[in-house]
Amino acid sequence: MTAVPLRLPRRLIEFTLDGQETRVPEGSTILEACRAAGKDIPTLCQGDTLTPKNACRVCVVEVAGARTLAPACSRRAEAGMTVLTGSERARHSRKVVLELLASATDLSTTPRADEWIKEYEAKPARFGAGAARVNEEPKVDNDLYVRDYDKCIQCYKCVDACGEQWQNTFAIAVAGRGFDARISTEHDVPLTDSACVYCGNCIEVCPTGALSFKSEFDMRAAGTWDERAQTETTTVCAYCGVGCNITLHVQENEIVKVTSPHDSPVTHGNLCIKGRFGFQHVQNRV
Ligand code: SF4
Ligand code: SF4
Ligand code: FES
Repeated sequence: MTAVPLRLPRRLIEFTLDGQETRVPEGSTILEACRAAGKDIPTLCQGDTLTPKNACRVCVVEVAGARTLAPACSRRAEAGMTVLTGSERARHSRKVVLELLASATDLSTTPRADEWIKEYEAKPARFGAGAARVNEEPKVDNDLYVRDYDKCIQCYKCVDACGEQWQNTFAIAVAGRGFDARISTEHDVPLTDSACVYCGNCIEVCPTGALSFKSEFDMRAAGTWDERAQTETTTVCAYCGVGCNITLHVQENEIVKVTSPHDSPVTHGNLCIKGRFGFQHVQNRV
């Protein structure tokens, strides 16, 4: 039996979305209204289990009468407002954001990045080979997960998941200021010397693959990672009585990573070290 959390009914508000009268429950974001209407808005720093951070600005839309573009992921729909998702101004802004991100960051493992770059005709190469990059080797300092900050867009999702929004461990945070700002452990120590409890909740929310399972990292390096060949089976973790929902990603009969459904009322996408990484014994049976 699935437990469905009950919420108070919300009144509907009406506004105009790309010329169509649209009704959404009060408190909905413009992004939620767009998704309900089948409109595809790019997002990177938005996370369905996290408070919006407004860090990437790839989701901007035009609100009639507003001086600046609005991030769809955090701006709430208001009665009577008029929103344009595909105006020239909004599309141009998304294009520039994608160009800046793709010129400074390795987006090769960011889902849909190539598709958006094509759709918005972004040209990251126009900044030349001298564009600012981290140019850092992936940090492989433990057997469970890898940090590759060449792929980090500084969206802060991992910081929020590790910190006050979920794990309350505060193992990773933003270090430095301005142009030198980056994600790091305290005093930049290896993860093994940090406060990390290896819950992997940071991997779960990372939108670019900057944080990844060591198993995925190794398979990508060997050229064997193939998401199309993977199956996903959602089950219940048997390590303790909490009953977390876990989704096993299996390739060639081996578990290659474990996630958790974000709409699970038990986990909201979060796990502990046992549920997240304690799967090797399944493969090691004799
Ligand atoms: S694995 Fe958990 S404790 Fe470690 S950095 Fe990630 S979120 Fe924080
Ligand atoms: S490591 Fe991932 S989740 Fe963390 S700030 Fe960078 S891109 Fe965002
Ligand atoms: S997805 Fe909206 S600001 Fe990043």
